[in-house]
Amino acid sequence: QRHLISAADLTRDDAVLILDTAEEMARVADRPIKKLPTLRGRTIVNLFFEDSTRTRISFEAAEKRLSADVINFSAKGSSVSKGESLKDTAQTLEAMGVDAVVIRHGASGAPYRLANSGWIDAAVVNAGDGTHQHPTQALLDAFTMRRRLTGRDAGLGQDLAGRRITIVGDVLHSRVARSNVDLLHTLGAEVTLVAPPTLVPVGVENWPCEVSYDLDSTLSKSDAVMMLRVQRERMNAAFFPTEREYSRRYGLDGDRMARLPEHAIVMHPGPMVRGMEITAEVADSGRCTAIEQVANGVSIRMAVLYLLLGGNEPAVTRPTGSEE
Ligand code: CP
Repeated sequence: QRHLISAADLTRDDAVLILDTAEEMARVADRPIKKLPTLRGRTIVNLFFEDSTRTRISFEAAEKRLSADVINFSAKGSSVSKGESLKDTAQTLEAMGVDAVVIRHGASGAPYRLANSGWIDAAVVNAGDGTHQHPTQALLDAFTMRRRLTGRDAGLGQDLAGRRITIVGDVLHSRVARSNVDLLHTLGAEVTLVAPPTLVPVGVENWPCEVSYDLDSTLSKSDAVMMLRVQRERMNAAFFPTEREYSRRYGLDGDRMARLPEHAIVMHPGPMVRGMEITAEVADSGRCTAIEQVANGVSIRMAVLYLLLGGNEPAVTRPTGSEE
């Protein structure tokens, strides 16, 4: 069984195959009828234990464009609130004959557990687990960077080798940062993380990237700056620095944006907190790709589901340590 659990599981060839397939899928979105028959007769469950706007809607759009039967499950309003376990929820879905489970969960490792539990036979796609991984976000980010930085019509197979990507903010709680560091490193990009010392994870020295505490010194050397939301919901201690201090030192405003190279883009995975990590002026500028990232997410998720369930290509990825 094939799954997509972590960006770290993807080889360069896997990642380029997904990005190139997503280019093909993007062409479907330009057609009057935005549908392919590829997954007709296949059933996909979107199993969301944590809130989501973009990822959930994007997976649903991708599944429908591939003609799959779609079941949406939200933990809120389900029997999870009565104490039902992930195992029992998963086996209930299995009994209904699902082919793939797209799972978002607050616990890091939940998708890996589901994929390796033997509870279900379905393919598992991680739609974000705790502070761990969000592989389709990293793929849609790489897709956006590749299009913007190597030229929209630059052709298939172009990657991000040598591009300088700066990721700014609450790295400690960010599955987006972790996934992007893994994937961008695989694609040959040079990543710098910028964060207050209190929001840098323990062990970051083992990650394949640089770390800086000074946003201003990285701006002129960046091809893309990715702003992260401060995840207050994952903080149980007092937030330090203060919001005002945070946005003064680590927020992206018009003055800082003007110091980026002319070709550089501003990225944000969403949801944005305007006035905190990014000003409205920057968020609404033509250099900010946040909305473009959302649109690209549908193509990426179509590509992932196609390759996992419908394509004749080699495996997208299998979780580390899984059997053939
Ligand atoms: N980027 C992202 O994962 O957004 P949602 O939480 O809205 O899905």
